[in-house]
Amino acid sequence: MSRKSHGSRRTFIAAAGGIAGALGAGAGAGGGIAFAGAKSHAALDMHTAQDTVAEPFFGSHQNGIAAPSPMQSHTYFAALDITATDRKALIAMLQTWTAASARLTAGRLAMAPATPDQPFDSLDALDLGPSRLTLTFGFGPDLFTLAGKDRFGLAARRPAALVDLPAFPGEQLEARHTGGAVSVQACADDPQVAFHAVRELVRLAGGNATVRWTQAGFSTANRTQGTARNLMGFKDGTMNPPVGDAAVMNQHIWVGSEGPRWMQGGSYAVFRRIRIALEHWDQMKLGFQERTIGRHKLSGAPLGGTHEFDALDLKAQDKDGNPIIPATAHARLGAPSENAGAQMLRRAYNYTDGASFVAERWPPWKQAMEYDAGLMFIAYQHDPRRGFIPMFEKMSRIDALNQFTTHVGSAVFACPGGVRHGQYIGQGLFEAV
Ligand code: HEM
Repeated sequence: MSRKSHGSRRTFIAAAGGIAGALGAGAGAGGGIAFAGAKSHAALDMHTAQDTVAEPFFGSHQNGIAAPSPMQSHTYFAALDITATDRKALIAMLQTWTAASARLTAGRLAMAPATPDQPFDSLDALDLGPSRLTLTFGFGPDLFTLAGKDRFGLAARRPAALVDLPAFPGEQLEARHTGGAVSVQACADDPQVAFHAVRELVRLAGGNATVRWTQAGFSTANRTQGTARNLMGFKDGTMNPPVGDAAVMNQHIWVGSEGPRWMQGGSYAVFRRIRIALEHWDQMKLGFQERTIGRHKLSGAPLGGTHEFDALDLKAQDKDGNPIIPATAHARLGAPSENAGAQMLRRAYNYTDGASFVAERWPPWKQAMEYDAGLMFIAYQHDPRRGFIPMFEKMSRIDALNQFTTHVGSAVFACPGGVRHGQYIGQGLFEAV
């Protein structure tokens, strides 16, 4: 990624007489910031478009699913509850979000600063440019019906593939990381740009949406050569379907004519907040770690192979007749051949949210430290009933990884097809069939 110099910032400040000059000195009558003049507002708005690369917001697919590549190095994900009282207010919110998303992804302010007394943007990401920001939206089960109520006349339009995930063995889901009526995922190469975008969209939602949970994550994807590594130290994403292969993507990831029109070109996102007991994992020998995953740690090659992208030889045995890639190895359990050919596009981020101290369950009864860290697992597929659900039903019972992982959050969202110019996010859902 090319990054332009910060000369553009200096150029702007000189042209506008500096930020202070552009903003003016005092508070306006309504308590807002007073501005010097309309010309300065326009200059302020254009300024953020000057730096770093911008990703398109409009297109046939939502950005942030299969593109861009490499994935941005930061994400901020928010699941929202919808508090709008009617369909009109919900649509108005989506229209406002569409306009703001087009602006934010171009590196501009959330709103044009035309009315000095109204908040238009926090300005905290002003100098950071677009930073390859993408905004991806999804609709969760609660949007269609909530506590049996069809609030927006959408119940009959809930796609069959937008299933409530079944309970899986071993999961310990917490309400504060689970569910949601609408998802907004911002990905960017700068964490502040990602957070800023979500924060602005939440503000612009007014009284129509409230945050239910959020999760920030980070990845090495844009900072290293090749496949990103997760916190366990393994390359993660090696066997993702090739995003450039339209046939594979249409078969496994994008919803086609089998789905409702508004979902065509879209995909279903399964989110799982997976805590990894890193404090435990870090005590394990390399060979044990590699047998848990079924791959070599350094190269990412499958056990028995040499190179990262070598095919998994699931039939290979050692001299004693044991499988070289163990029956419980994570990579074996995720392989398409073990899952009726199913494939998902994993776009996972790492997370850390501090550490806590718990009393140990065994002598010498001392306090033990646990990181709240792990994987923000996000997988896209054209139908979770063929992808995530059967795959994880098996994994949750026998995956060697389960010794170290606990699923503490979960959500599923229908991410509509891309937003076309002149349309708003998810418009087809609200139109007559
Ligand atoms: C903390 C949890 C997890 C970690 C650390 C993890 C890590 C990994 C690693 C290192 C690989 C091998 C490299 C690659 O092909 O990408 C892999 C592969 C894979 N994982 Fe996970 N994973 C986790 C959870 C899950 C879950 C919950 C699922 C789905 C139910 C899943 C599905 C897959 C699939 C489909 C593959 C590719 C297998 C193949 O095609 O060979 N993973 N994962």
